[in-house]
Amino acid sequence: METSNDITIIEVGPRDGLQNVATFVETAQKVSLIRRLAASGLQEIQAGAFVSPRAIPQFRDMKEVVKGIIALPEVRFSTLVPNLQGARDAVKSGIKKLIFFFSLSESHNLNNVRQTKEASLQGLEVIRKDLAAGVPAELCIALATVFGCPFEGYMTTDHILKDIDKIVNMGIRDITLCDTVGFANPRQVEEIMVACGKEFPEATFAVHFHNTRGLGLANALRAYDVGIRRFDAAIGGLGGCPFAPGASGNIATEDLVFMFNEMGIPTGIDLDALLTVSDYVREILPGTTMSSAVYRAGLPQADASGRECGARQVNPPFPTHQDL
Ligand code: COA
Ligand code: ZN
Repeated sequence: METSNDITIIEVGPRDGLQNVATFVETAQKVSLIRRLAASGLQEIQAGAFVSPRAIPQFRDMKEVVKGIIALPEVRFSTLVPNLQGARDAVKSGIKKLIFFFSLSESHNLNNVRQTKEASLQGLEVIRKDLAAGVPAELCIALATVFGCPFEGYMTTDHILKDIDKIVNMGIRDITLCDTVGFANPRQVEEIMVACGKEFPEATFAVHFHNTRGLGLANALRAYDVGIRRFDAAIGGLGGCPFAPGASGNIATEDLVFMFNEMGIPTGIDLDALLTVSDYVREILPGTTMSSAVYRAGLPQADASGRECGARQVNPPFPTHQDL
């Protein structure tokens, strides 16, 4: 596990966020969103997913989106891939980091990628061999429902470690553990992350929390306290898996950056610039709830007398409670 104080926030809004939005976001807007996110200092961005357009119509333009962003310097782009077809398309587009995803819960895996876990692991091996034949791309894993599943409930730590062991044995070292539907709590996060760190010191773990029940930041902070340095988050608090009942938004990037900045833990992200990206998200998705608390409340400000003087002005103006 990494021990330095440098953290990496991986922006997943263009993927986890947009996959859960019914409105099709135009290609040029997706490209603009990703470019703005990069300009705010985010160094790692999940640009979308090379999945079946029937499963997620939002990503039917992935190739064009990647074409519009791939030349951006100093940003590491990744995409989700569910199978060999997705992996090959991603690599052909110029993506250097592929995130194969499957679920710790058999039921969610069947619902999400329409195959058993065993079949997913075989698919992973096929992609691994394909890449090993000379394709210069890194293969990583996002493991869904680690902290609980809407069909199967909570997973035991033994179950979690057993499945991760299979992944690590394939030589994969970059593993994101996902709380797909917001079941996690800080004590559970500590137990699982500490166990993973002890069991698999050769791997680097990232965490992916949804704020469905309000514990997202508490979970992220607990993960930080036990040594995790890589965190997924989505602009505006967008997000959710369309194939997991009850799924809602990721922890908001604005809120996570605010928390770390205020704690003196550098993120490399310019929060003012990021909040202008939040404005852009509202502009392109006017009907979508922005659950970021920092975006709604604005940054803390004081006037000359030292009193709090209210929220940062956003344009368009904040919605009323009725709108939300
Ligand atoms: N990219 C584009 N098209 C793909 C594809 C990919 N990665 N994988 C499969 N397809 C297409 C096939 O070409 C085929 O098209 P056709 O009917 O025109 O011939 C069709 O999808 C069905 O292929 P099949 O292999 O039978 O897939 P499936 O219907 O069993 O679906 C997945 C399996 C994994 C491809 C699909 O469920 C999927 O993409 N899921 C994504 C789920 C997701 O992103 N969830 C959110 C993240 S947590
Ligand atoms: Zn998610």
